[in-house]
Amino acid sequence: MDTEKNIVVGVTGGIAAYKAAELVRALKKREAEVKVVMTEAATRFISPLTMETLSGHAVAVTLFPPNKKVGVRHISLAEWASLIVVAPATANFLGKTASGIADDLLSTVVMAAGGPVLFAPAMNDRMWTNPIVQNNVRTLQDAGVHVVEPEEGVLASGKIGVGRLAGIERIVEAVECVLDRSEALCGKKILITASRTEEDVDPVRFLTNRSTGKMGYALARVAQRRGAQVVLVSGPTHLSPPENVEWVRVRTAEEMRRAVIERFETCDALVMAAAVANFRPQVFSDQKIKKGGKAWALKLERTADILSELAPVKRDKVMVGFAVETENPITHAREKLQKKNLDFIVINNPLVEGAAFGTDTNVVTMLDRKGGTEELPKMSKHKVAEKIMERVESLICNRAS
Ligand code: CTP
Repeated sequence: MDTEKNIVVGVTGGIAAYKAAELVRALKKREAEVKVVMTEAATRFISPLTMETLSGHAVAVTLFPPNKKVGVRHISLAEWASLIVVAPATANFLGKTASGIADDLLSTVVMAAGGPVLFAPAMNDRMWTNPIVQNNVRTLQDAGVHVVEPEEGVLASGKIGVGRLAGIERIVEAVECVLDRSEALCGKKILITASRTEEDVDPVRFLTNRSTGKMGYALARVAQRRGAQVVLVSGPTHLSPPENVEWVRVRTAEEMRRAVIERFETCDALVMAAAVANFRPQVFSDQKIKKGGKAWALKLERTADILSELAPVKRDKVMVGFAVETENPITHAREKLQKKNLDFIVINNPLVEGAAFGTDTNVVTMLDRKGGTEELPKMSKHKVAEKIMERVESLICNRAS
């Protein structure tokens, strides 16, 4: 998220109000400027002092605070905000705003919003499923309000049902999605591979590597937010797919190869972020291999190289590769760039601090076919994904002109 993002977090009076504190922390961690507006009822559930301390700004509650200039407070907050997030949003607040009622500071700020508005409702399951509430949600969505739907879980009543405030990660993801949205890749299809592959030795063992998929998933998320139609071909991972992305799950290098080749023809760009196994056992033993003697040699054979196979049929498609290198990175990566007919290649060295597998950051250098090199400092994988997609975008656009 960019530093200049100003977010008003609105808190209404429900038991989930305490979770708004976590939301403010999470947004601040992502370098957003946050101001909190609470309803009177919300102040009964969580102290404004908590929100003030976490946000670094005075908390606004009333439309007419004593000793303040009257009548402009809601407008200045609405003008300041690049986004207004109301979490939790009670049934009462949804109903009020859906009907255009603005009778306190938060509802007037929402009504005066010039930018996007996002609601994360939380309430008892009987209230959430009430057709009146559902109707209000639809009215708000029709008016352009983004809604992060509540989740199923244990509710304040002790019952299990749908109504619990969405997880903070989901709300933050929705915030980022709304703020980063652009149409730059609209109408384009981007094929992205992620994570590792697994090559079976026998029914209980396989060969794999340390890739977790975070880089590839960040790429898919960024491409989707830029309006692209995204197909994410993923090896095994614990990650959940980004929303509105076609998720194709594979295990082996051969399965990944087939999934990519099948979809290559219709795509505008292929970004191979997956750490595909270069070797697999020559023979798969359908029974568990017993330990037997003291030593054991496993015979491996090469897997097909997906990028090399597609290189001759690349035509005007954008092709991006990754190179994991621990020595002579530029020389090795340049060889791969040429051999695999890539537009550019992203190098990373897992031995460098901040670039290890599984971390949320990366340190990469990008090499292009004209000999250009761009060395990026340590940054989040999300930021690296944005840098990569900027290049993909400009290559696709230049190709079209
Ligand atoms: N790749 C591929 N098919 C494979 C192996 C790798 O398409 N069977 C892709 C990777 O997704 C990556 C690029 O090729 O984008 C570089 O992969 P890497 O394994 O680092 O390089 P190799 O060319 O296999 O060479 P080496 O392992 O010797 O460094």
